[in-house]
Amino acid sequence: AARKFFVGGNFKMNGSLESIEKIVESINNAKFDGTTEIVIAPPALYLLQVQSELKGPTEVSAQNCFTEASGAFTGEIAPQQLKDAKVHWVILGHSERRSMFGDTDKLVAEKVKAAIEAGLSVIACVGETLDERESDKTMDVVERQLEAIAGNVPESEWKNIVVAYEPVWAIGTGKVATVQQAQEVHDDIRKWLAKRISPSVAEATRIIYGGSVNGKNCGELAGAKDIDGFLVGGASLKPEFIDICKTVK
Ligand code: G3H
Repeated sequence: AARKFFVGGNFKMNGSLESIEKIVESINNAKFDGTTEIVIAPPALYLLQVQSELKGPTEVSAQNCFTEASGAFTGEIAPQQLKDAKVHWVILGHSERRSMFGDTDKLVAEKVKAAIEAGLSVIACVGETLDERESDKTMDVVERQLEAIAGNVPESEWKNIVVAYEPVWAIGTGKVATVQQAQEVHDDIRKWLAKRISPSVAEATRIIYGGSVNGKNCGELAGAKDIDGFLVGGASLKPEFIDICKTVK
């Protein structure tokens, strides 16, 4: 079966009760035809409110979680708590977590394992910095990040993972990857999945692109064979998010 197009909205540490309620209202009022799976990730504080106001089938996602089920881990949220609250998705390995909050490949892999074992679905983020791209290390970096995750996820659980390719240099910069740049990496990731996991997992796994996606560039990006959706940051807080969710593949 064809891969269902997937659009995630990552609000990051933005918004207020009032502004987020407005976004939810506009999503609820949009007429989506069901061809795209839509998930929004407000800050943890707002997850339950958004979840209760959001009309299905759009779902909420957390932006992070910890590896343990409970205990003395001040400030953290357990995957089991997300599951308990019926928050079925979590973003893990976002570059901002990796670069600012100590989320190493190993920690990301442990978080993915814990989330999957708790029954969550994961948006697993990978991507190279500008330096790494310019020194031709893009696939080395992406494969290293994926390998850490693959070592912790049995083949049967890949149905619960969406891979987000987010080149760090494109995140929040207005400098979107070209269609060719994104397609090339997405194709490489799919080939890697075929070799490392299995051809059927490679065929079924959504590989979404993130980094300065907006209402203007989403259509062209969606035309690329291996781009199965987007992880949207800044534009997910704006009215154009609705247009991105309506992108036709
Ligand atoms: O998770 C989303 C990405 O970091 C992209 O953010 O759309 O603001 O560039 P951006």
